This record gives sequence, structure tokens and C-alpha cells, in this order.
Amino acid sequence: MAADSLITSPGAGAWSQADLPLQVDRLRFVWPSGQIALDDCSFAIPRPGLWMLVGGNGSGKSTLLRLIAGLLEPSSGQLLCNRKPALVFQNPDHQLLLPSCGSDVQLSLPPGLGAPQRHEQIALALEQVGLGGLQQRPIHSLSGGQKQRLAVAGALASRAQLLLLDEPTALLDQASQRDVLALVRQLCNPAARPAPGTPEGAGPGPITALWITHRLDELDQCDGAALVRHGRVGRWQDGSALRQRLNRLPLGRGER
Ligand SMILES: Nc1ncnc2c1ncn2[C@@H]1O[C@H](COP(=O)(O)OP(=O)(O)OP(=O)(O)O)[C@@H](O)[C@H]1O
Ligand SMILES: [Mg+2]
Repeated sequence: MAADSLITSPGAGAWSQADLPLQVDRLRFVWPSGQIALDDCSFAIPRPGLWMLVGGNGSGKSTLLRLIAGLLEPSSGQLLCNRKPALVFQNPDHQLLLPSCGSDVQLSLPPGLGAPQRHEQIALALEQVGLGGLQQRPIHSLSGGQKQRLAVAGALASRAQLLLLDEPTALLDQASQRDVLALVRQLCNPAARPAPGTPEGAGPGPITALWITHRLDELDQCDGAALVRHGRVGRWQDGSALRQRLNRLPLGRGER
């Protein structure tokens, strides 16, 4: 894959190819049923930030995130991920497993930490997502938006540097949608605090997020957006410009 085909987004020039959070080269994935989900898919995330993918049902977006997360093996092609990935699902009830906020975040911590470190890192992860002090709070008492933020806290506690968010706001009301988007936006800003366990000034820098959405208004908040069609990711574009184009030409059937 040529470097100039990788770096196509605004502001990417300061990052060398070795820094790219993610590179995907001619990726193909075929389900056992024979259904081709991704075909000759090549793209790169050029720098940390909030990157969004939009595309019709069945165009391959979720399959792509599962491949990046290592839950599926490519049929062919290459995927080079320079950041520890963590998935955040559309429905947080599918990933929050334990009864309290603190115990759930604890599940994501790396092994081998002593009790004081565990407590400190749980508190920091909760604080980073705006749930500070809610260690004992039963998960069933959280709102949908709070549950989604707790899922992000788990990802941060695991020291993930690449958040893979699959329609994380699809089930949320408008206020919670804005909250969760603002949280991830802030985590992806260059001045964002390092993840729990990362000493200040160390580590690979701010979080990178790859966010799938069908909510076109969210595209205004990203650093770059790409259209997924027929199992391929298009070039990065300005999010607002892509939203305007798609509003004029609504996504419909036949994207796959
Ligand atoms: N577990 C599976 N087994 C077989 N085929 C699958 C499976 N999951 C997805 N597919 C197929 O792979 C293709 C891509 O699906 P995928 O879920 O990645 O699309 P998507 O872009 O995430 O769609 P949506 O917007 O509806 O979430 C589709 O044709 C789908 O039917
Ligand atoms: Mg999907």
C-alpha cells in the first residue's frame, strides 16, 4: 500500500507511516455462508482522533470492527493495528457483566495490579467518563447514556488506545447521544489525559476512535469520515461535507 494512498485526511501530514494507528491493506472477509462482507478493503487511520464510518445496512462496518478487534480472522489481506483495541457495542447491556460500576470496570483492568492500584485506576476510569464516585452504584440503576459511558470506562481501564464504537448512540435519546459523543470527542482531543495506568507524558498519546454511525448529525464532530460501500472504506472526507452530501442523497438499499 503506497503511503500517499494511506494519508488522505486533513492534518495527517505531521504523522509518519509508522505512527498510523491502523492500516488495512486489501482486506477480504468471507463468512462461512459464502457471504462476502469485506472485499479489497484498504484504508488507514492517519492519526489519533475521532474517525467515523457511515454506510448502508450490510455494507460491512460491524464485520470490519470485529476484524480490527481480532474477533475474526481475515480471509486474506493485512491489518496492522498499532494500538490496543477495545469494542464498544450498540447495546451496553451486551457488554456490562457485573452488578456494580466498580466491579465491572475492574474486570477490564490488566492482571497483576495490587489492590491500591486497582482502586486508583477504577476511580480514574470512572472519573474520565463522568461517573466519578459511582463505584458502588448498581448498573441496573444507570441510564442508557451512563451505561454507555461505563462501557467506555471499561475500555479505558483495559488501556485500550483504539476505541471501536459500533453505533454507540443508536439506542440513546438525544441528550445521552450528545453526552456520549462529547465524551469520546474529548478523549480523542490531543490534550486528553492519558489512559489509567499510563504515566503523565508517557504512552502513545490521545485515544483514537473509530465510530460507526447511522446518525448523520454526528459526522459534524469527527476529524474525518468515510463512506463504507460494498465492503470497502472510501477516502476520508470532512465530516460536515459528507453529512451534507448524504442528506441530499439519503443512504438506501444496495450499499452492499
Ligand atoms: N454472523 C454472520 N454470518 C453470516 N453473515 C454475516 C454475519 N454477520 C454479518 N453477515 C453478513 O455480512 C455482511 C456485512 O454485515 P455487517 O453486519 O458487517 O454490516 P453492517 O454494515 O454493520 O450493517 P448494519 O448497518 O446493518 O449494522 C452482510 O451481508 C451480513 O448479512
Ligand atoms: Mg453493523
